[in-house]
Amino acid sequence: MSPAFLVLGISIIGTWGVASLALIAGGVILIVSPGDAPTASSGTVGGIFLIVAGFVSGSLMQMTVNPLLGIDPPLPIKAKNIIPHDRLQRWASAGPLADYPDRVPQEVRIRSHRVTVVRDGDTAYALSGLCPHARLPFAGFPGSPIQPDPIRDECITCPFHGARFELGTGRVVRQPFSSEFNNDHPFLGRFQSKLLFFNQRSEDVQTYPVEIDEGEVMVKVPR
Ligand code: FES
Repeated sequence: MSPAFLVLGISIIGTWGVASLALIAGGVILIVSPGDAPTASSGTVGGIFLIVAGFVSGSLMQMTVNPLLGIDPPLPIKAKNIIPHDRLQRWASAGPLADYPDRVPQEVRIRSHRVTVVRDGDTAYALSGLCPHARLPFAGFPGSPIQPDPIRDECITCPFHGARFELGTGRVVRQPFSSEFNNDHPFLGRFQSKLLFFNQRSEDVQTYPVEIDEGEVMVKVPR
């Protein structure tokens, strides 16, 4: 997908999302402070109608525009879907270690699986390409302002809402929308935490065994 198309799509999502939020906010205002203008129905009924319309609009956006852009629905990936390492069967190449920037997550496709590979000096880690909080890519969107966060303290941080995971185990060590992240990222953090009010927590993330074989990153993935 071209970066221009991606930026256009993200703009549409942003505008649609803001419009949906405006409907919900309008409904709340109408219920809390209806004013004294004469209306055909009560403020409460009108407010409820606007709130429902806002939620329907937001859901339609997620289900129509996102798949067109190849974006997965922002639903959590459950930890029960994690495949234990002893049930992963196939070693596959993820390319030369030297091709990876140091400590910056990169996404690769390995036998149809989206995998994030993180080089750390002479070694590398591999985990799911998608963050389990809302199925967004750890490596960000190419050409967009959302770029991968360099690893820190042997942890990967999702650039979208700030969830943090141990690279070796996949264990979540910081939940999305932490106050630290929200303070630094008013749009991706504080604002989006309202949009994703139904999805505020992340479970652990799938990791994959990695070996470096003669300079080649080998990752063990499902068959
Ligand atoms: S998608 Fe990663 S923290 Fe939300």
